[in-house]
Amino acid sequence: MKKIAVLTSGGDAPGMNAAVRAVVRTALHENMEVYGVVRGYNGLINDELIPMDLRTVSDTIHRGGTVLFTARSPEFRTEEGIQKAVATCHRRGIEGVVVIGGDGSFRGARDLTAHGIPCVGIPATIDNDISCCEETIGYDTAANTVINMVDKLRDTSQSHDRCSVVEVMGRHAGWLALTTGIAVGATSILVPEVEFDFQKDIVDKMKLTAATGKHHFIIVVAEGVGHVDELAKKIEEVTGVESRATVLGHVQRGGSPSSRDRNLASHMANYAVHLLEEGKSNRVVAIRNNKLLDFDITEALEMKKPFDMDMYRMANEISI
Ligand code: F6P
Repeated sequence: MKKIAVLTSGGDAPGMNAAVRAVVRTALHENMEVYGVVRGYNGLINDELIPMDLRTVSDTIHRGGTVLFTARSPEFRTEEGIQKAVATCHRRGIEGVVVIGGDGSFRGARDLTAHGIPCVGIPATIDNDISCCEETIGYDTAANTVINMVDKLRDTSQSHDRCSVVEVMGRHAGWLALTTGIAVGATSILVPEVEFDFQKDIVDKMKLTAATGKHHFIIVVAEGVGHVDELAKKIEEVTGVESRATVLGHVQRGGSPSSRDRNLASHMANYAVHLLEEGKSNRVVAIRNNKLLDFDITEALEMKKPFDMDMYRMANEISI
């Protein structure tokens, strides 16, 4: 393989730039030519490609977001869109594509591979919801951002004897809520994977901890559970504790990537290019037990990542 392309797709995640950088540097090290595709699959459809050299990716390892821009591409979900992308690859002589993103991006990579362009995926999403992989690029940085924000909320919550109801990202996945909830010492953690009982999981826990001298409370709620404003009102009505809702929102997706994310991105990207070089395709890179490995994308997309109920139970045990 002599010419490859790299793209970032779906929601951005801190560490995507470190991954792009390592793809470019590895490819150049292996005497390949490498193109950066602008705005995800749309860039392949519209032939928006930038030739990358060693210096194109200088000064990017520490930057959040993605220098290649990103997009969700409805057009790429159509046969016509895929055909346009394939035509771009053929015209440009691109023999393989590294796709950095989440599940939706990997479905695109699977479809592009099926149309004759070998693809390898690198998991990058703050949601950490890629089934075959223990940790995705961006998750650690986002978790640190959440912790930083909630620590600030705690200061004001403590000063006013209030309850802070905080929404963190994760439409379908509660990983970020669970691990940050543990790290900020939340009284309750609500995630889309586990049904909650307002009385038992919130009111009773607040009362129990109040009886032992606690005056302020943090409730971490995953975006998929939602309704934090209503929840805060209801908590105030039922418990009499003044409550405020905060939606952390997209701030969680930004910022300079942590050491962990920069390392994960660099390792995964290097591994991905070597996979393409070895003639492998339709693969997704993953990390398990601190070891890099790869899975067939189609199989990976069918895998389920069971929610960590043991961790959830542990969080409940220590939040009294
Ligand atoms: O997939 C990452 C994610 O940040 C989710 O947690 C969130 O629900 C979604 O993206 C938000 O997407 P958008 O940027 O389109 O609002």
